[in-house]
Amino acid sequence: MEKDRIKELINKLAAEHSLSLEEYEMLIDGYSSEAAELLAEKAVRVRQSVYGNSVYTRGLIEISNICRNDCYYCGIRKSNRKCSRYRLTEQQITDCADAGHELGFRTFVLQGGEDPFFTDEVLCRIVRRIKQAHPDSAVTLSMGERSRESYRALFEAGADRYLLRHETADKEHYEKLHPAEMSFDNRMRCLQELRETGYQVGCGFMVGSPYQKNADIAKDLRFIEDFHPDMCGIGPFIPHKDTPFADRKAGTLEMTCYLLSIIRLIYPPVLLPATTALGTIHPLGREMGIKSGANVVMPNLSPVTVRDKYMLYDNKICTGEESAECRGCLDRRMRSIGYELVIDRGDIKRDRAYNEERRISD
Ligand code: 5AD
Ligand code: FES
Repeated sequence: MEKDRIKELINKLAAEHSLSLEEYEMLIDGYSSEAAELLAEKAVRVRQSVYGNSVYTRGLIEISNICRNDCYYCGIRKSNRKCSRYRLTEQQITDCADAGHELGFRTFVLQGGEDPFFTDEVLCRIVRRIKQAHPDSAVTLSMGERSRESYRALFEAGADRYLLRHETADKEHYEKLHPAEMSFDNRMRCLQELRETGYQVGCGFMVGSPYQKNADIAKDLRFIEDFHPDMCGIGPFIPHKDTPFADRKAGTLEMTCYLLSIIRLIYPPVLLPATTALGTIHPLGREMGIKSGANVVMPNLSPVTVRDKYMLYDNKICTGEESAECRGCLDRRMRSIGYELVIDRGDIKRDRAYNEERRISD
């Protein structure tokens, strides 16, 4: 009986791309390996119709681990005295992008803590330099909460996309993950303003973060359904030993893959990465993410000298590998499951998805 109800919900989600808050919660509560399999099958089919066998890559450049924030879950939070801090120079950043371009990357993601050094002036200059050197490439920023003016200046300098995970769509839950200086409302303001500025915007959350209930995840899914982000980053929470959440349990591979499938069905064209965190909790985590409906991987292009310092969580993978090694490794991994890493900016295919859908329902 219960099984039938879950199957019905999955069919409804696949047909309508929408469920109520209560239905999402029921679907999460009703996790089983059969349900996961059915969801993955539908998610892969719809992903296939939009993106074929292509997997997009993003070259991730971790530009600074200096951060003014103190998120309880994060290894580079300002109160972590054991974290050895670094900041890349402009030259190092553009060198990483140049090397990445040579390797076939056509999107560069500049990610960092909220480091006051990266003023609009500094960051705009870096964006301009990368866009000038590689006009065929997209620049994505993942630099946290900033003002509307700042987002506009960076967009005008040429930034195409912005990633800012909402972390949780429940205000009370948000307050349990962050100190009082940070606010849910400001996070939401940032996402709204990013969209209004014209960016392709990414939100996202951690699976299995402390205090997270299935009702909270249901809210995340409703938020994603309402916001229709261009990108959505989800990965398991993994404890970091020098944070207040050191003793908490990690999120699971199974639930992360289940949610990847659900998010694919909510918004078929969404760009959905199989994250490094997923690859960290299981040796084949990223492959399983792709087989659940993800279509993006984000290998690291940061200089190997700083890799082990950008430790958001324990045991992060790829800290010893050069960019070329990660690219080669992921290339083999994707081939091994029948997918192909493509040399492409990897923009969202909104139109293709909708046309496909119209054709199917005609
Ligand atoms: N485990 C998993 N993901 C984490 N992040 C930060 N800390 C952790 C952790 N301990 C995620 C957050 C952030 C993104 C850059 O990394 O969701 O937005
Ligand atoms: Fe970095 Fe496999 S992706 S070593």
